[in-house]
Amino acid sequence: MWHSALLLGAFLLSGQVRGSDGSASTAITCFTRGLDLRKGTEDVLCPANCPLWQFYVFGDGVYASLSSVCGAAIHSGVITNTGGAVRVQTLPGQENYPAVNANGIQSQVLSRWASSFSVTAGTQSTALEAVGRSVSTARPSTGKRPKKTLDKKAGNKDCKADIAFLIDGSYNIGQRRFNLQKNFVGKVAVMLGIGTEGPHVGVVQASEHPKIEFYLKNFTATKEVLFAIKELGFRGGNSNTGKALKYTAQKFFSLENGARKGIPKIIVVFLDGWPSDDLEEAGIVAREFGVNVFIVSVAKPTTEELGMVQDIGFVDKAVCRNNGFFSYQMPTWFGTTKYVKPLVQKLCSHEQMLCSKTCYNSVNIGFLIDGSSSIGESNFRLVLEFVSNVAKAFEISDIGSKVAAVQFTYDQRTEFGFTDFVTKDKVLSAIHGIHYMSGGTATGDAISFTTRNVFGPVKDGPNKNFLIVLTDGQSYDDVRGPAAAAQKAGITVFSVGVAWAPLDDLKDMASEPRESHTFFTREFTGLEQMVPDIIRGICKDFLDSKQ
Ligand SMILES: *[C@@H]1O[C@H](CO)[C@@H](O)[C@H](O)[C@H]1NC(C)=O
Repeated sequence: MWHSALLLGAFLLSGQVRGSDGSASTAITCFTRGLDLRKGTEDVLCPANCPLWQFYVFGDGVYASLSSVCGAAIHSGVITNTGGAVRVQTLPGQENYPAVNANGIQSQVLSRWASSFSVTAGTQSTALEAVGRSVSTARPSTGKRPKKTLDKKAGNKDCKADIAFLIDGSYNIGQRRFNLQKNFVGKVAVMLGIGTEGPHVGVVQASEHPKIEFYLKNFTATKEVLFAIKELGFRGGNSNTGKALKYTAQKFFSLENGARKGIPKIIVVFLDGWPSDDLEEAGIVAREFGVNVFIVSVAKPTTEELGMVQDIGFVDKAVCRNNGFFSYQMPTWFGTTKYVKPLVQKLCSHEQMLCSKTCYNSVNIGFLIDGSSSIGESNFRLVLEFVSNVAKAFEISDIGSKVAAVQFTYDQRTEFGFTDFVTKDKVLSAIHGIHYMSGGTATGDAISFTTRNVFGPVKDGPNKNFLIVLTDGQSYDDVRGPAAAAQKAGITVFSVGVAWAPLDDLKDMASEPRESHTFFTREFTGLEQMVPDIIRGICKDFLDSKQ
């Protein structure tokens, strides 16, 4: 029995399973998300006995594509937690995904997501489902299941997070509850599984002025962290949580202080009562730095105290998504043990860390480069230098930002598309290698060409799209219509004019507000100075689109 189960296990894990009716199903895991599957319709096979509390499901009936497929299937009643065949249908994104409790799963609210899916019963034969069941029940008896070996030094490798605990050290909390808070933070630290390859933590104390108690790099073993937490002294003072949050977002996560590249940055703000200052600006700064802010609030202000709260909506303003995921409430500091595990699960679900997205790692930037005769070879080199300097600022990778370039005269030539080069070095050398075309100027046609051929293939992706049009003169065709169509397709247009480029054309092409999306310089040498303004403009638009 055991060897056939193993064989079947290997068969299922290898991916394709063929049903008796000939349809192919892909065996997936409990954590496969909609966005991990192919577009269109796909038949999949969910395993049995998924850990229900670890499912992330957004929506009801129609689910955001970052939801677990098997979780959604159980939530919608298509299968039970004994596994089974599910047909997944890709759907367009929605403005809102509601939270509904059904079949043992609490789905969550999410606003605006790029794509969705729905689930219906799969077409697998019952024979195959029986096979799936026998495999999952037979497997433990083989004794071959890889045991989770707990390497203490490495820590929990499945939990990727760099976490700052921003603890409350104000008069609101007082010495006694401050100690209870330390207990709670200690319990969270223990359960996280801190280690060299697991989560790293540090502590900042908020009171009148913030104080970094220790950094991520100071301790990478649970025991040391617990000792450091025990040693924390209560500072007292006003509850300037906004000031402390801003300070932590700016100062805590530097590479020198132990932040790791590509690992989600998290600040867990503990708040007893309410903050004395404003959290809104601090929330914006945290977003700019790609930090995921969690607010753990304990003991909400009483009705009499409410009048003293500066801004009742402070929690929603501090977090990047007001979807309930990032805010967490505990009624008191007593009996908090049961709150430890759910909080740890949130902190460790790195695919939920939506706020890690910044303008540097989540944009597509297309450059539309005028190659007309009036520019001349040496000025054309200055234009390429400008393109290169803008591109340099972004984190280019297959999961990050992407860059494309099109050169135009009357004609258009895609120098490289968004998916051709996905490292910064390759993009920069591709820019360097662009040959000057020389010819007329048809900017309108070139915008249409770029919208269709360069942005078309990426328009449903997760990144925000930007087009930077560089030109030195009057276009022979209409620019207004093509630019409006590009904007309608979700592309933010910046126009950069040099020398004889007419300001009216530049403004007509640019996105609203036109003033801040239009740039002009008399000389080609002036392009260099515009680089920081363009980057700042892209980052501002990116943030505004997330509000
Ligand atoms: C953490 O590391 C920094 C730099 O190495 C050091 O200055 C500081 O004293 C350390 N803090 C603690 C609490 O060990």
